[in-house]
Amino acid sequence: MTAEVLVEKKKLAKPPLEIHRLGDRVLRQSAKRVAKVDGEIKQLIREMLQTMYSADGIGLAAPQVAVNKQVIVVDCEPDEAAKPPLILINPTVTQAGRDIAINQEGCLSIPSVYLDVKRPAAIEVSYKDEYGRPQRLSVTGLLACCIQHEIDHLHGVLFVDRVENTLLLDQELTKHGFSTKAVKSVT
Ligand code: NI
Repeated sequence: MTAEVLVEKKKLAKPPLEIHRLGDRVLRQSAKRVAKVDGEIKQLIREMLQTMYSADGIGLAAPQVAVNKQVIVVDCEPDEAAKPPLILINPTVTQAGRDIAINQEGCLSIPSVYLDVKRPAAIEVSYKDEYGRPQRLSVTGLLACCIQHEIDHLHGVLFVDRVENTLLLDQELTKHGFSTKAVKSVT
């Protein structure tokens, strides 16, 4: 990956960006496609990575930091210093397998809430990388789950919208101080 967007995987005392939480309307907007991967986008990517590592996250989408652009960063191996994160600009799921996987998900915008979500176990995604080059990737497992979760953010959808056990969902949200009215179920 380009040195321009590479950051050290460490926690900063003052992360550059503020992560917005469930109930905040910025999380419900549809993000706009990025026309050109310029210096401004690279700066955003760098700051998103620093913010994600500082918050112990494995994924972050631009709407979570109130930037209405189709940019996501993902790193399922945050403890592997030498492994670069994935940067996906204008990502779209081009194929989804029939097999469904159930994973316990969480979100930096909904701290302390972890619940099961069903999603396709394998997907193919197309996107632009940090050089602006078109890319295509087939993924499974945690990475497939994480990428789908982050792409949802670009469409104003949060993982809690996909939780089927609404009784447990309401219980967990209430317990951690979130309004159950902030959920927009898609199941
Ligand atoms: Ni999230």
